[in-house]
Amino acid sequence: MHLAIVGDKFIEAEKLDSAYLDYGTFFGDGVYEVLRSYDGRIFALEEHLGRFKRSLAEVDIEGIDIETVRQRVLKAFEKFKTPNAKIYFHITRGFGPRDHATEGLMPRFFLLISEMEDASEQKRNGISVLTAPDTRWKRCDIKSLNLLPNVLAKRLAHKRGCAEALFVDDKGFITEGASSAFFAVFGSKLQTSPLAANILPSITRQFVLKIYKNAGLELIEKQIKAEDAASADELFIAVSSKDIVPVVKFNEIQIVDGKVGKYTKSLMNEFAKLVKG
Ligand SMILES: Cc1ncc(COP(=O)(O)O)c(C=O)c1O
Repeated sequence: MHLAIVGDKFIEAEKLDSAYLDYGTFFGDGVYEVLRSYDGRIFALEEHLGRFKRSLAEVDIEGIDIETVRQRVLKAFEKFKTPNAKIYFHITRGFGPRDHATEGLMPRFFLLISEMEDASEQKRNGISVLTAPDTRWKRCDIKSLNLLPNVLAKRLAHKRGCAEALFVDDKGFITEGASSAFFAVFGSKLQTSPLAANILPSITRQFVLKIYKNAGLELIEKQIKAEDAASADELFIAVSSKDIVPVVKFNEIQIVDGKVGKYTKSLMNEFAKLVKG
Protein backbone atom coordinates (compact mmCIF):
# COMPACT_ATOMS: atom_id res chain seq x y z
CA MET A 1 0.00 0.00 0.00
CA HIS A 2 1.17 3.49 -0.80
CA LEU A 3 -0.08 6.95 -0.32
CA ALA A 4 1.60 9.85 -2.09
CA ILE A 5 1.52 13.61 -2.01
CA VAL A 6 2.16 15.38 -5.30
CA GLY A 7 2.53 19.09 -4.74
CA ASP A 8 -0.06 19.47 -1.99
CA LYS A 9 -2.49 16.79 -3.18
CA PHE A 10 -2.84 13.35 -1.65
CA ILE A 11 -2.92 10.67 -4.32
CA GLU A 12 -3.72 7.03 -3.73
CA ALA A 13 -1.27 4.52 -5.09
CA GLU A 14 -3.57 3.25 -7.84
CA LYS A 15 -4.11 6.76 -9.15
CA LEU A 16 -0.49 7.85 -9.03
CA ASP A 17 1.07 8.42 -12.45
CA SER A 18 3.89 5.89 -12.77
CA ALA A 19 6.19 8.68 -13.98
CA TYR A 20 6.53 9.65 -10.30
CA LEU A 21 7.89 6.19 -9.48
CA ASP A 22 10.50 6.17 -12.22
CA TYR A 23 13.98 5.00 -11.26
CA GLY A 24 15.36 7.85 -13.32
CA THR A 25 13.79 10.23 -10.81
CA PHE A 26 14.56 8.19 -7.69
CA PHE A 27 18.15 7.29 -8.51
CA GLY A 28 19.18 8.84 -11.82
CA ASP A 29 19.06 5.19 -12.84
CA GLY A 30 19.11 5.38 -16.62
CA VAL A 31 21.11 6.47 -19.64
CA TYR A 32 20.50 9.03 -22.36
CA GLU A 33 21.59 10.56 -25.63
CA VAL A 34 21.29 13.96 -27.28
CA LEU A 35 21.69 14.42 -31.00
CA ARG A 36 20.59 16.89 -33.59
CA SER A 37 19.69 17.45 -37.20
CA TYR A 38 21.18 19.98 -39.55
CA ASP A 39 18.94 21.28 -42.33
CA GLY A 40 16.66 18.27 -42.34
CA ARG A 41 19.29 15.55 -41.82
CA ILE A 42 19.95 13.80 -38.55
CA PHE A 43 23.66 13.89 -37.78
CA ALA A 44 25.63 10.90 -36.46
CA LEU A 45 22.64 8.74 -35.53
CA GLU A 46 24.66 5.52 -35.72
CA GLU A 47 27.38 6.90 -33.44
CA HIS A 48 24.81 8.01 -30.86
CA LEU A 49 22.98 4.70 -30.99
CA GLY A 50 26.30 2.87 -30.60
CA ARG A 51 27.19 4.87 -27.50
CA PHE A 52 23.66 4.41 -26.14
CA LYS A 53 23.93 0.66 -26.54
CA ARG A 54 27.22 0.69 -24.67
CA SER A 55 25.80 2.86 -21.86
CA LEU A 56 22.85 0.46 -21.48
CA ALA A 57 25.21 -2.50 -21.22
CA GLU A 58 27.45 -0.72 -18.69
CA VAL A 59 24.52 -0.03 -16.35
CA ASP A 60 23.05 -3.47 -16.91
CA ILE A 61 19.75 -2.45 -18.50
CA GLU A 62 18.86 -5.40 -20.67
CA GLY A 63 16.45 -6.34 -23.42
CA ILE A 64 16.50 -3.10 -25.40
CA ASP A 65 16.22 -3.43 -29.15
CA ILE A 66 18.34 -0.62 -30.60
CA GLU A 67 16.50 -0.94 -33.91
CA THR A 68 13.28 0.05 -32.13
CA VAL A 69 15.06 3.06 -30.63
CA ARG A 70 16.32 4.03 -34.08
CA GLN A 71 12.77 3.81 -35.52
CA ARG A 72 11.38 5.97 -32.72
CA VAL A 73 14.02 8.62 -33.31
CA LEU A 74 13.35 8.62 -37.06
CA LYS A 75 9.57 8.72 -36.59
CA ALA A 76 9.75 11.58 -34.10
CA PHE A 77 11.97 13.52 -36.48
CA GLU A 78 9.65 12.88 -39.41
CA LYS A 79 6.60 13.92 -37.41
CA PHE A 80 8.19 17.05 -35.93
CA LYS A 81 9.05 18.49 -39.36
CA THR A 82 11.73 20.87 -38.12
CA PRO A 83 14.99 20.98 -40.10
CA ASN A 84 17.19 21.89 -37.12
CA ALA A 85 15.96 19.75 -34.28
CA LYS A 86 17.43 18.58 -30.99
CA ILE A 87 16.53 15.02 -30.08
CA TYR A 88 16.84 13.86 -26.50
CA PHE A 89 16.01 10.31 -25.44
CA HIS A 90 16.59 8.15 -22.41
CA ILE A 91 15.85 4.75 -21.01
CA THR A 92 15.43 4.31 -17.29
CA ARG A 93 15.46 1.01 -15.46
CA GLY A 94 11.70 1.31 -15.13
CA PHE A 95 9.28 2.23 -12.39
CA GLY A 96 8.21 0.62 -9.18
CA PRO A 97 8.50 0.87 -5.41
CA ARG A 98 11.57 2.83 -4.36
CA ASP A 99 14.13 0.15 -3.67
CA HIS A 100 17.71 0.38 -4.91
CA ALA A 101 17.92 -3.00 -6.58
CA THR A 102 14.44 -4.23 -7.45
CA GLU A 103 14.60 -7.04 -9.99
CA GLY A 104 12.40 -7.45 -13.03
CA LEU A 105 11.51 -3.84 -13.80
CA MET A 106 10.44 -2.93 -17.32
CA PRO A 107 12.86 -0.35 -18.78
CA ARG A 108 11.14 2.80 -19.95
CA PHE A 109 11.83 4.87 -23.04
CA PHE A 110 11.31 8.62 -23.24
CA LEU A 111 12.05 11.00 -26.11
CA LEU A 112 11.77 14.74 -26.44
CA ILE A 113 12.30 16.59 -29.69
CA SER A 114 12.52 20.35 -29.85
CA GLU A 115 13.73 23.06 -32.15
CA MET A 116 17.48 23.60 -31.88
CA GLU A 117 18.37 26.77 -29.99
CA ASP A 118 20.36 29.28 -31.96
CA ALA A 119 24.03 29.12 -31.02
CA SER A 120 25.27 31.45 -33.74
CA GLU A 121 26.15 34.29 -31.38
CA GLN A 122 28.27 32.00 -29.19
CA LYS A 123 29.92 30.51 -32.24
CA ARG A 124 30.68 33.91 -33.73
CA ASN A 125 31.99 35.64 -30.63
CA GLY A 126 33.06 32.79 -28.38
CA ILE A 127 32.13 32.10 -24.78
CA SER A 128 33.62 32.53 -21.32
CA VAL A 129 34.28 29.49 -19.16
CA LEU A 130 35.31 28.86 -15.59
CA THR A 131 36.82 25.85 -13.89
CA ALA A 132 35.16 23.81 -11.14
CA PRO A 133 36.37 20.78 -9.18
CA ASP A 134 35.49 17.48 -10.84
CA THR A 135 33.42 15.88 -8.09
CA ARG A 136 31.84 13.28 -10.37
CA TRP A 137 31.98 9.51 -10.03
CA LYS A 138 34.64 7.35 -11.66
CA ARG A 139 32.54 6.23 -14.66
CA CYS A 140 31.97 9.43 -16.59
CA ASP A 141 32.34 7.39 -19.80
CA ILE A 142 28.76 6.24 -19.24
CA LYS A 143 26.16 8.77 -20.39
CA SER A 144 24.06 8.35 -17.28
CA LEU A 145 21.16 10.44 -16.01
CA ASN A 146 23.11 11.17 -12.85
CA LEU A 147 24.15 14.73 -13.64
CA LEU A 148 24.03 16.59 -10.33
CA PRO A 149 27.72 17.67 -10.35
CA ASN A 150 27.29 18.82 -13.96
CA VAL A 151 24.18 20.78 -13.05
CA LEU A 152 25.86 22.44 -10.08
CA ALA A 153 28.98 23.34 -12.07
CA LYS A 154 26.90 24.78 -14.90
CA ARG A 155 24.77 26.80 -12.48
CA LEU A 156 27.92 28.23 -10.94
CA ALA A 157 29.22 29.10 -14.41
CA HIS A 158 26.00 30.91 -15.29
CA LYS A 159 26.06 32.83 -12.00
CA ARG A 160 29.50 34.10 -12.94
CA GLY A 161 28.49 35.05 -16.48
CA CYS A 162 30.09 32.02 -18.11
CA ALA A 163 28.43 29.68 -20.60
CA GLU A 164 30.28 26.53 -19.53
CA ALA A 165 32.15 25.05 -16.58
CA LEU A 166 35.24 22.93 -17.12
CA PHE A 167 35.89 20.16 -14.62
CA VAL A 168 39.36 19.97 -13.07
CA ASP A 169 40.45 16.73 -11.42
CA ASP A 170 42.46 16.31 -8.19
CA LYS A 171 45.76 16.51 -10.09
CA GLY A 172 44.89 19.83 -11.74
CA PHE A 173 43.97 18.45 -15.18
CA ILE A 174 40.91 19.55 -17.09
CA THR A 175 38.78 16.51 -17.79
CA GLU A 176 35.91 17.97 -19.84
CA GLY A 177 33.09 20.49 -19.71
CA ALA A 178 29.91 20.08 -17.68
CA SER A 179 28.23 19.25 -21.00
CA SER A 180 31.01 19.35 -23.57
CA ALA A 181 34.40 18.02 -24.60
CA PHE A 182 37.35 20.40 -24.27
CA PHE A 183 40.19 21.26 -26.67
CA ALA A 184 43.17 23.59 -26.65
CA VAL A 185 45.39 24.72 -29.51
CA PHE A 186 49.06 25.42 -28.81
CA GLY A 187 50.81 26.64 -31.96
CA SER A 188 49.55 24.22 -34.60
CA LYS A 189 48.93 21.42 -32.12
CA LEU A 190 45.45 20.44 -31.09
CA GLN A 191 45.36 18.99 -27.59
CA THR A 192 42.56 17.10 -25.85
CA SER A 193 42.28 14.50 -23.11
CA PRO A 194 42.60 10.88 -24.20
CA LEU A 195 39.43 8.82 -23.83
CA ALA A 196 39.28 7.12 -20.44
CA ALA A 197 36.71 6.35 -17.74
CA ASN A 198 36.90 9.95 -16.50
CA ILE A 199 35.35 11.52 -19.61
CA LEU A 200 32.45 10.90 -21.94
CA PRO A 201 33.43 9.58 -25.36
CA SER A 202 31.99 12.65 -27.06
CA ILE A 203 30.63 12.10 -30.55
CA THR A 204 31.58 15.65 -31.55
CA ARG A 205 35.13 14.98 -30.33
CA GLN A 206 35.16 11.88 -32.53
CA PHE A 207 34.30 14.02 -35.56
CA VAL A 208 36.80 16.75 -34.63
CA LEU A 209 39.43 14.00 -34.71
CA LYS A 210 38.38 13.20 -38.27
CA ILE A 211 38.79 16.77 -39.56
CA TYR A 212 41.66 18.34 -37.61
CA LYS A 213 44.19 17.56 -40.35
CA ASN A 214 42.12 19.49 -42.90
CA ALA A 215 42.47 22.49 -40.62
CA GLY A 216 46.27 22.13 -40.68
CA LEU A 217 46.56 20.84 -37.11
CA GLU A 218 48.49 18.03 -35.48
CA LEU A 219 46.86 16.09 -32.66
CA ILE A 220 48.09 15.43 -29.14
CA GLU A 221 45.82 13.32 -26.97
CA LYS A 222 47.14 14.38 -23.61
CA GLN A 223 45.48 15.90 -20.59
CA ILE A 224 45.62 19.68 -20.28
CA LYS A 225 46.66 21.32 -17.02
CA ALA A 226 44.18 23.98 -15.94
CA GLU A 227 47.08 26.36 -15.26
CA ASP A 228 48.27 26.02 -18.89
CA ALA A 229 44.90 26.53 -20.55
CA ALA A 230 44.82 30.31 -20.28
CA SER A 231 48.11 30.54 -22.17
CA ALA A 232 46.85 28.46 -25.09
CA ASP A 233 46.54 30.12 -28.48
CA GLU A 234 42.97 28.95 -28.85
CA LEU A 235 40.41 27.05 -26.80
CA PHE A 236 37.08 25.54 -27.74
CA ILE A 237 34.42 23.18 -26.49
CA ALA A 238 32.60 20.54 -28.53
CA VAL A 239 29.07 19.23 -28.04
CA SER A 240 26.48 17.68 -30.33
CA SER A 241 23.94 20.46 -29.96
CA LYS A 242 26.36 23.20 -31.09
CA ASP A 243 29.35 21.29 -32.47
CA ILE A 244 32.36 23.64 -32.01
CA VAL A 245 32.10 26.69 -29.77
CA PRO A 246 35.17 28.93 -29.32
CA VAL A 247 36.25 29.86 -25.79
CA VAL A 248 37.63 33.39 -25.55
CA LYS A 249 37.84 33.79 -21.78
CA PHE A 250 39.09 31.22 -19.29
CA ASN A 251 38.68 31.97 -15.58
CA GLU A 252 38.38 35.66 -16.43
CA ILE A 253 41.59 35.61 -18.47
CA GLN A 254 41.25 36.63 -22.10
CA ILE A 255 42.64 34.14 -24.60
CA VAL A 256 45.14 36.01 -26.79
CA ASP A 257 43.15 38.97 -28.25
CA GLY A 258 39.76 37.64 -27.16
CA LYS A 259 38.79 36.84 -30.75
CA VAL A 260 37.96 33.47 -32.29
CA GLY A 261 41.23 31.88 -33.43
CA LYS A 262 42.03 30.86 -37.01
CA TYR A 263 42.25 27.12 -36.33
CA THR A 264 38.95 27.11 -34.47
CA LYS A 265 37.35 28.98 -37.38
CA SER A 266 38.81 26.51 -39.80
CA LEU A 267 37.55 23.55 -37.72
CA MET A 268 34.08 25.10 -37.60
CA ASN A 269 34.14 25.40 -41.41
CA GLU A 270 35.29 21.80 -41.76
CA PHE A 271 32.56 20.68 -39.38
CA ALA A 272 29.95 22.57 -41.39
CA LYS A 273 31.10 20.68 -44.51
CA LEU A 274 30.91 17.38 -42.65
CA VAL A 275 27.32 17.85 -41.51
CA LYS A 276 26.24 18.57 -45.07
CA GLY A 277 27.43 15.04 -45.79
C1 LIG B 1 29.98 15.59 -19.78
C2 LIG B 1 29.90 15.71 -21.26
N1 LIG B 1 31.03 15.64 -21.98
C3 LIG B 1 31.01 15.77 -23.32
C4 LIG B 1 29.83 15.99 -24.00
C5 LIG B 1 29.83 16.11 -25.49
O1 LIG B 1 29.36 14.92 -26.04
P1 LIG B 1 28.74 14.87 -27.49
O2 LIG B 1 29.77 15.43 -28.41
O3 LIG B 1 28.51 13.43 -27.74
O4 LIG B 1 27.50 15.69 -27.46
C6 LIG B 1 28.63 16.05 -23.30
C7 LIG B 1 27.37 16.26 -24.01
O5 LIG B 1 26.35 16.47 -23.45
C8 LIG B 1 28.66 15.91 -21.89
O6 LIG B 1 27.53 15.97 -21.16
